[in-house]
Amino acid sequence: MADMSDLPFCLICKELGTPLMFREMVSSEAIVRLNPKTLKMASFDERERPLVQQIFGSDPQVMAEAARIIEERFHPDAIDINMGCPVYNIVSNFNGAFLIKEPQRARAIIQAMKKAVTVPVSVKTRLGWSQDTDCLEFVKVVEDAGADLISIHGRTKEQGYSGKANWERVGEARRQVPNTPVLVNGDITTPELAKEALAISGADGVLIGRGGLGNPWNFYRILRALTTHQDIPEPTIEERMRVIREHAKLQVQHYGEHGLIKLRKHLPWYFKGFSGWKDIRSDLVRISTTQELDNVLERIK
Ligand SMILES: Cc1cc2nc3c(=O)[nH]c(=O)nc-3n(C[C@H](O)[C@H](O)[C@H](O)COP(=O)(O)O)c2cc1C
Repeated sequence: MADMSDLPFCLICKELGTPLMFREMVSSEAIVRLNPKTLKMASFDERERPLVQQIFGSDPQVMAEAARIIEERFHPDAIDINMGCPVYNIVSNFNGAFLIKEPQRARAIIQAMKKAVTVPVSVKTRLGWSQDTDCLEFVKVVEDAGADLISIHGRTKEQGYSGKANWERVGEARRQVPNTPVLVNGDITTPELAKEALAISGADGVLIGRGGLGNPWNFYRILRALTTHQDIPEPTIEERMRVIREHAKLQVQHYGEHGLIKLRKHLPWYFKGFSGWKDIRSDLVRISTTQELDNVLERIK
C-alpha cells in the first residue's frame, strides 16, 4: 500500500507473524533512472522475508529492466506488477488499472519481466475498468503470459473504493485460470470475513490491505483462524503502545527524525474503534519527536 507498507511497517507486521508482505509500489521509470529515493524504497531488511516488491509502469522493456535492477540489488522473493491502481496520476500515464484495457501490453510486460528475472512474477489487478466482467478474459491473458500468482481486488477501477468487494466475481475469474494461484482481495478485515471470502471465491488465499492499517496483528490473527481455528484476542492497549513505540523507533532508524512525521498517518489507525482517544487525536497527528509521542501515549494510558 502506497505510503503505508514501507520497511518499518512491513518489519513490524513480519515480527508479529505475518506470513508474506507486499511492499508499496515503486515506479519502474524511477528505478531504471537509479533514483536514490526510489531505490531506498525498494531496499529491505532480511527479517522481512519472504517479501514481494511491487512495481508499476507501462513500458515492457522499462518494467523488465526495473525488475532486473531490483532483483540484482535487493533480491526480493518475488516481484509484483501493479495492474489495479485507480489513481489519476497512475492511470493517466497508462499504468496501474489502465493495463486492464490493454491486455496485449499487459502480456508483453509480464513476458518481458519473466525473461529478465529468476524470481516469481505476480500480478495485482481489479475486476475490470468499468465492467466487473473484464477480468474474466484479462486473467486468462495474465496466466497465459506466465504470471505465477494473481491477486484480484473485487471492484472495478470506476468503483474506486465504493460499494462492496464482489468475491463471487473473483471466484468466476479464479475458475478461468486453473493453473495459477489466486488471492482474493477487498474488504477482508476479520477472520470471519476471510473465511467467507475464501468460501465464496474459492481463491487460494487472501490479500489484506486496509484491515492491516494500525492493526499489524491482524494478519497473524486471520492466519491462525484459517489454519488452526485458533481465536487470538485483539491486542490490549498496552500491546498497541508497545508496537507504536517500536514502529516509531524503526521510522527514525529508516528515515531519520522525519520518520516521525511520516508515522503520523499511521497513528489514528492504531486507535480506531477505541472510545475516548478522539480527544487526543489532534495532538497525536502533530507529533514531531519521540518525546512528544511519549507524552501523548502517557496521556492515553
Ligand atoms: C492508502 C492505500 C494505498 C494503496 N496502495 C496500493 C499499492 O501501492 N499497490 C496496490 O496494489 N494496491 C494498493 N492499494 C490497494 C490495496 O492493496 C487493496 O487492493 C484495496 O485497498 C482493497 O483491499 P482492502 O479492502 O483489503 O484494503 C492501496 C490502498 C490504499 C487504501
